Amino acid sequence: MNKLIVIYFLSVILNGDEISQSLVQNDSENFFITKYEYGKMLYKNPRGISCEKCHGTDAKGKLISRFVHIRKKIKYNCIIESVDITTINYNDFIIKLDSTKKIKKIEFDKTQVCDKLVYGNTMPKYFLIKSEMDSIYYYITHIGENNE
Ligand code: HEC
Repeated sequence: MNKLIVIYFLSVILNGDEISQSLVQNDSENFFITKYEYGKMLYKNPRGISCEKCHGTDAKGKLISRFVHIRKKIKYNCIIESVDITTINYNDFIIKLDSTKKIKKIEFDKTQVCDKLVYGNTMPKYFLIKSEMDSIYYYITHIGENNE
């Protein structure tokens, strides 16, 4: 009788184990969705101004604002716009997002008065950890692939 009970319990434990195994497997199958959802959440709410506000829901860039700049008596009608970030390579993305990295120097010619003003001066600094940046990167490079 005792033996039977032990065997019964053993099989319960084993079944329980199998169940938790399958839960783990399901979790890892859903991992991509989780990362996507996490990235989406951070893109909308990155502990600071939402990326979405300036880059648009689709991250393809948008017009943010216009202003007039006068330099050496010449009037420039400047626009501030964000660019498409859905195809950006990982390194350029990290350089832009990681506040410990120096911003990439871009040479502007004399006619690019507005571009020079806007570049590096519009986007706020963020203090995201690597896994958060990675999740945002995953999200923006997979937007729309998730049957949304
Ligand atoms: C206040 C507006 C604003 C917000 C908020 C903002 N950005 Fe930007 N972002 C810009 C502008 C404008 C540019 C283009 C000019 C520049 O590079 O400085 C840009 C450039 C970028 C670039 C570089 C694109 C390239 O091809 O070089 C990346 C990547 C980027 N943003 C990602 C993000 C992410 C991710 C967030 C949120 C965590 C975010 N931005 C929030 C305005 C914004």
